[in-house]
Amino acid sequence: FAARQATQSVFGAVQRRAFSQTAANASKVAVLGAAGGIGQPLSLLLKLNPRVSELALYDIKGGPGVAADISHINTKSTVKGYEATPEGVRECLKGAEIVLIPAGVPRKPGMTRDDLFNTNASIVRDLAKAAADACPDANMLIISNPVNSTVPITAEVFKSKGVYNPKKLFGVTTLDVVRASRFISQLKSTDPANENITVVGGHSGATIVPLLSQSGYELQGAQLDEYIKRVQFGGDEVVQAKGGAGSATLSMAMAGARFAESLLKAAQGQKSVVEPTFVDSPLYKDQGVTYFASPVTLGPNGVEEIHPVGKMTEFEQGLLEVCLKDLKGNIEKGEKWAKENP
Ligand code: NAD
Ligand code: LMR
Repeated sequence: FAARQATQSVFGAVQRRAFSQTAANASKVAVLGAAGGIGQPLSLLLKLNPRVSELALYDIKGGPGVAADISHINTKSTVKGYEATPEGVRECLKGAEIVLIPAGVPRKPGMTRDDLFNTNASIVRDLAKAAADACPDANMLIISNPVNSTVPITAEVFKSKGVYNPKKLFGVTTLDVVRASRFISQLKSTDPANENITVVGGHSGATIVPLLSQSGYELQGAQLDEYIKRVQFGGDEVVQAKGGAGSATLSMAMAGARFAESLLKAAQGQKSVVEPTFVDSPLYKDQGVTYFASPVTLGPNGVEEIHPVGKMTEFEQGLLEVCLKDLKGNIEKGEKWAKENP
């Protein structure tokens, strides 16, 4: 009985907090791929966020069912699921301030993220087309892999429709920051909530570059190598553990909800909201790398300021050089495909 009472009081506190914070603005958030492994817990977390006033859920299968379920949660936002039709996706997107896209297939053991390209490129292209038509001013948050290529694909779609705004397109790389912070806290026995390791580059293998030195840590030798490998291949760890049933969904939902929350905070007037994210970036354009993840200050219009990577050790500089080479290829592949497959 005591345990039950404690649980009830925790949930009660969460709910009261949710109801007592009133969002400054009405914010419609759309999730495309809402019935998937990421889509469902992501939608749940967005339903618990008092900054969201309207939650619009779309999937090629099961959107209305997930919406009916989530809509019973006693927080204020409205929830609607849309039919898998062209009108359905259009209505879902109309008036959205934020569009999260976790639609697409996940990896199985032995696959790279790039192996998903052939399937996911056209899924993201078609959803980007719908968004460019229905909500050209929305912040587009791309989760579907390979992010290093699906973000350039989305940009090409928006450019082809004359509505591209580089300040409103984001590849969600938050999970890399979440992992880098969690893994260092395990090594150093610190509180992970107080860790915020900067991760730059892209979102796959060697393109993921954690800058541990910026947080004052100096791992050496095998411990450093293992840490870097774990951050760069954290996704593979989950893919292996799930044994063919998919990739990270729950941690990704948390990371996606955190990034959406940061954008909403910035849109609703909070200053100095900074998140690393993969954006159209001037930092390495002279080397042909047109998109890059680095810390970005978010504002009411999306990207407010793209920060340089900052101080690095020689070792981290070496990681960055490898990253830039791989990233250039991934970006060019996405751009070329989008131009050839409009
Ligand atoms: P999943 O298969 O569980 O869910 C995908 C959902 O997308 C399904 O419900 C499916 O019906 C839906 N879908 C497919 N085509 C669609 C379309 N045209 N329109 C709308 N919905 C469509 O997969 P998941 O585990 O949720 O992963 C989704 C994607 O996210 C994968 O590509 C995965 O690699 C990627 N991912 C990215 C990160 C990241 O850090 N950015 C992390 C984890 C996973
Ligand atoms: C991740 O980092 O967990 C995702 O990109 C999914 C994957 O394929 O590893």
